[in-house]
Amino acid sequence: MARSRIVRNFDAMIEVHELTKRFGDTTAVDGISFRLDPGSVTGFIGPNGAGKSTTMRMMVGLDRPTSGRCLVDGRRYADLAAPMRSVGTLIDAEAAHKGRSARNHLRVLARTHGIPDRRADEVLETVGLTDVANKRIGGFSLGMRQRLGLATALLGDPAVLLLDEPANGLDPDGIIWIRTLLRSLAAEGRTVFVSSHLMGELAQTAHRLIVLGRGRVLADDAVDALTARFGTRVARVRPDRPAELEEILRRHDAAVTRLPDGALEVTGMDSPDIAVLAHRHGILLFENTTVAASLEEAYLALTQDQGRHVAKVSR
Ligand SMILES: Nc1ncnc2c1ncn2[C@@H]1O[C@H](COP(=O)(O)OP(=O)(O)O)[C@@H](O)[C@H]1O
Ligand SMILES: [Mg+2]
Repeated sequence: MARSRIVRNFDAMIEVHELTKRFGDTTAVDGISFRLDPGSVTGFIGPNGAGKSTTMRMMVGLDRPTSGRCLVDGRRYADLAAPMRSVGTLIDAEAAHKGRSARNHLRVLARTHGIPDRRADEVLETVGLTDVANKRIGGFSLGMRQRLGLATALLGDPAVLLLDEPANGLDPDGIIWIRTLLRSLAAEGRTVFVSSHLMGELAQTAHRLIVLGRGRVLADDAVDALTARFGTRVARVRPDRPAELEEILRRHDAAVTRLPDGALEVTGMDSPDIAVLAHRHGILLFENTTVAASLEEAYLALTQDQGRHVAKVSR
């Protein structure tokens, strides 16, 4: 997939420092700090109301921080010479003028930002909207508006992408498509920051996850590291004497599920320890692998009661 380049310096450094936002007596974002790395996808995950959108809005000057700041290459977003070329954003998919066609919407934006006209067609192609380029945005589905929002974010060929729940309204094909797109944008050296309230949308896309709950960072680490720390590993073993091994494993406090093919799924004990136990009892293992490492449960445990859908207590 060939994409033209306008300016090539993807080494953007984006830094959030002690950012806080209060709305009345609600603290939406509570003194959070992080730095985003070029060349990788950072997932920003947390339940609805955790403060993800507010953080992203403050990062691009749509909301004013109560305190703290966000700097892109050492400057505030408002002070950037060519913001659309530095930071592409998808924050509010409803923002486009409904009466305009997708192509016109993008061309108008391109012109006001000194971006060549042809870039509109390039980004429409990238997001799969070429066929509806001349259709009015008012008739677009949520998924199509999300794709247009993504095209808008990509218009200035920016080094940084801030995307708030971009998979919202996309069908399963669209979710796989966006996953691939985000990965390839990061592989080009861009900094990709993408939010979601669903672990399933991010676990296979992000290199790193920042988990937010009630405006605070609950975890911030590489996906591999989080998986090792919190994820539930499931070992799959196929012994010559399943019933016997099952009994032994249970005595060692492992949870065992017997599968129809005679294999055992084991949680609470890793593959090497299972191998040692089996060997000690003269049980032969035809297979011994770690089959799954799910972050979903860890995420749910970490963020339980961290949403704001529970009404705030009034005093
Ligand atoms: N403009 C606003 N006025 C008052 N409260 C707001 C406003 N925007 C967001 N909030 C509150 O801030 C909290 C965080 O919201 P938000 O950043 O939208 O979370 P998320 O994007 O993680 O779902 C919520 O309690 C929300 O109700
Ligand atoms: Mg949000």
